[in-house]
Amino acid sequence: MGNNKKKKKSAEKIYEFFIKHERPEEYAKDPLKFYTPKRVQEYAQSKALMRIQEKITKRVLEISEVEPPGMVLDLGMGCGFSTTLLFLLKYRTVGIDLNRLFLKFYKNYELNSIEAIMQSTGFRPNTFDMIISISAIQWILAIQNQKRKKVLLNQLALQSSNLLKNGGCVVFQFYPKSDVEMHELGSAFNSTGRFEGNFIIDNPGNPKKRKIYLKLMKIK
Ligand SMILES: C[S@@+](CC[C@H](N)C(=O)[O-])C[C@H]1O[C@@H](n2cnc3c(N)ncnc32)[C@H](O)[C@@H]1O
Repeated sequence: MGNNKKKKKSAEKIYEFFIKHERPEEYAKDPLKFYTPKRVQEYAQSKALMRIQEKITKRVLEISEVEPPGMVLDLGMGCGFSTTLLFLLKYRTVGIDLNRLFLKFYKNYELNSIEAIMQSTGFRPNTFDMIISISAIQWILAIQNQKRKKVLLNQLALQSSNLLKNGGCVVFQFYPKSDVEMHELGSAFNSTGRFEGNFIIDNPGNPKKRKIYLKLMKIK
């Protein structure tokens, strides 16, 4: 029993969150306010960010096992670092973002970018083989009003289940502040009763390198 307790403690430690600084989604709250024209330009022209987001996208594809020319929806696509890679790999893409400054930045019309909010996109049911979101969902998870957050997460989950074809999958990479936030996202999808899957955590013991993914398959 004593030993078990010790083991449990060290297992919990692996997933501790060390967030020292307030993050943009906490102090700015509204992504449209945070991503000013200057910040959009800095983000879109950063080669380092492009490399990081491409690396995450490759990992998302590895996790998803969806092959080209699968139809992919990218939620919170920004200036299209991930969507562009998918397009070059011969996936059919649609990307949405609520910030038109990001969407217009590279004028990549072939990516099919649309101004929309991720929890309410208005596409037809059974359209996509995969829905991805990279480094964007923490903006919803940081909403302070718990009721509103729950409504938006439930909308996101329900909409994802409607937009995906049967057997299609969701892979979201995001930066939760705590395991409570991870659970909030997971349980919204769980409550639809239409998905199976789990979290995949790369480098769990290293908060700086850690990447968290939610991978779910639509089962009905
Ligand atoms: C850090 S950027 C990531 C962009 C892109 N996924 C990438 O990997 O480069 C986060 C993006 O999420 C978008 N975003 C945040 N909340 C959103 C929402 N509710 N609906 C649509 N886009 C949202 C922001 O406008 C921003 O472009």
